[in-house]
Amino acid sequence: MTIESGNDLLGLQRIGKIVALTLQEMKKHLRPGLTTAELDEIGGAFLKKHGAHPAPKLVHNFPGITCISLNNEAAHGIPGDRLIRQGDLVNIDVSAELDGFFADTGATIPVLPVSPLKQKLCDCGQRALKRAIASARAGRPINAIGRAAQTTAHRCGFTVIRNLPGHGVGGDLHEEPTVPGFYLPLANQRLTEGLVITVEPFLSTGAHHVVPDADGWTLKTSDGSLVAQYEHTIVITKKRPIIITAV
Ligand code: CO
Ligand code: CO
Repeated sequence: MTIESGNDLLGLQRIGKIVALTLQEMKKHLRPGLTTAELDEIGGAFLKKHGAHPAPKLVHNFPGITCISLNNEAAHGIPGDRLIRQGDLVNIDVSAELDGFFADTGATIPVLPVSPLKQKLCDCGQRALKRAIASARAGRPINAIGRAAQTTAHRCGFTVIRNLPGHGVGGDLHEEPTVPGFYLPLANQRLTEGLVITVEPFLSTGAHHVVPDADGWTLKTSDGSLVAQYEHTIVITKKRPIIITAV
């Protein structure tokens, strides 16, 4: 969506804050020995308390409240009876709706202690998101975002997953435009003031693509390469974007 009024911005900020706090709450409780379903329930209870509706369920009938993906899984992991272990990379993606507004955020959390490679992947993923957001500005092409993310990833010796882009968001979970996490010359449409998008580069230790798992939902690397993703919902302005899902 494109923000047309102060009310639009307020509505979006309200749900943005809720998904950000939900992610923070889940992070706080994340520990070895917990199942991914138990972690999901913590997020579900938090969303419910704030009157928000989980978007994956609402929009796609996803079998969970949040998406929880481990290690070489990149996205759309189904919460279940799997135990979280020391050394795991746990990606939590929270998206929800309130009063017709949608926001989407995500983060990969290392369950300490982790290997230096996993730590580096997480550090670099956060940096890639930061730089990608900083490059998003009204008048610039959409591919400036992926270019910044990819440059950061390559400097660290990592790849960007190409078939998991960011997207328009706000009036629905997934809207136009597509926001590639890598440099795609063809994606040269100009960013416009008030446009609401997600920025969510998926960095990997080697893979460029994810494939669907047999469960029909989980998207993972086929070669076992690790993945880390950090995601914010932002509003494009003439200056730095407004980050809607910052705590
Ligand atoms: Co997301
Ligand atoms: Co998203």
